[in-house]
Amino acid sequence: MKKVVITKLDNRGRGISFLNNKITFVPKTLPLEEVEIELIKENKKYNEAVVTKFVNVSDKRVKPLCPYYGLCDGCHLMHMSFENTLAFKKEKVESLLYKYAHIKKEIEIISGKSLNYRNKITLKIVNKKIGYFKERSHELVEIKECLLASSTINEVIKMLNLLNIGNGEVVIRSNKDNEILLSIKTDDKVLVEHSLNKVKKIVGIVLNDKVVYGEVHFIELLNDVKYQVSYNSFFQVNKEVIELIIDYLEELMPNVNKALDLYCGVGTIGLALSHKIKELYGVEVVKNAICNAKENARLNNINAKYICGKVENVLDSLPNNLDLIIIDPPRSGLDNKTRDFILGVKAKYLIYISCEPITLARDLDILKEKYDILNIKAFDMFPYTEHVECVCVLNRR
Ligand SMILES: C[S@@+](CC[C@H](N)C(=O)[O-])C[C@H]1O[C@@H](n2cnc3c(N)ncnc32)[C@H](O)[C@@H]1O
Repeated sequence: MKKVVITKLDNRGRGISFLNNKITFVPKTLPLEEVEIELIKENKKYNEAVVTKFVNVSDKRVKPLCPYYGLCDGCHLMHMSFENTLAFKKEKVESLLYKYAHIKKEIEIISGKSLNYRNKITLKIVNKKIGYFKERSHELVEIKECLLASSTINEVIKMLNLLNIGNGEVVIRSNKDNEILLSIKTDDKVLVEHSLNKVKKIVGIVLNDKVVYGEVHFIELLNDVKYQVSYNSFFQVNKEVIELIIDYLEELMPNVNKALDLYCGVGTIGLALSHKIKELYGVEVVKNAICNAKENARLNNINAKYICGKVENVLDSLPNNLDLIIIDPPRSGLDNKTRDFILGVKAKYLIYISCEPITLARDLDILKEKYDILNIKAFDMFPYTEHVECVCVLNRR
């Protein structure tokens, strides 16, 4: 039996303890808790462990709202009050900005609702049972509902068995009108018409990347801009919080002539700010997302040009004399070539949106050679998970 005391949390919200002087991470624990643990991974420098018994429980621990908490690994922080998850995320962003970019700043964290915020989930089906895989495994945790998903998605989960899928994967998307877009991957014969009778608002079903009913996309509205979103395009998962981010940027940004929206997805951020931009360009690697972005510009009567490709491969063909570059990369952040391009272009403003504060801080440390941070805020885009979105506006010195 191994017993440890949790000293603090790491930036993923895991408890940090020491076992024979080696750092030992214990997820879903809180500072000052004393726990018995079982080691599940031993590395040279650290161990990973799980709790087998709580010896001393923190008075900050709360009963998780979800019956699957700790099993499915969709949430990481449901043993904390929502308020404390926000405090944790605020501190996480502050300490990472300080550690990797030497930025010492108090960061405000903005939040929306804490549950039923996701407009997209991916479910696994194994032997007709529906759920999520446990972390790092193919073991299914059967679920009846997901508290993070919109209530419309939860209605669909209850009907999914009608499709008669034995084994496979289903992506469910919902929009503001409670319409549903389903994308299914399976080798089984799917009974499409059965689900259609029960769930009235299904607007499209895509089976193994082929449309078998309706459309491959639906329309979502952010503030008053319409977005066509395809079943396989990236779209912000939390409508309320992305609208708060757009409001924040609206308030901060002046009008500009030429703007470039890098990693633009379906054009979300650039189009949302387009009334402040005379000439808008966007770059995105996913072909369907670029088709959506072009259609979205048309739908909203916005003049924008989009380039399909990896940002780092199309740098030579991008416009110069830019006033604003919007940067919203995947978790890995910017590669060296793109970072050098951005520094070389001399745009007056940068907007950097990031879901990974470590790479954001790494990139800011370099960008701040030429840019001042005008404003930076954290947004709780993914409540009850370890993740947090940061939005930073910079201006050229
Ligand atoms: C965090 S999402 C942001 C999308 C968009 N800005 C939005 O708000 O919806 C990152 C996007 O970058 C795209 N992407 C990833 N790597 C890329 C690359 N090397 N070049 C261009 N786009 C990339 C992804 O397909 C995804 O759409």
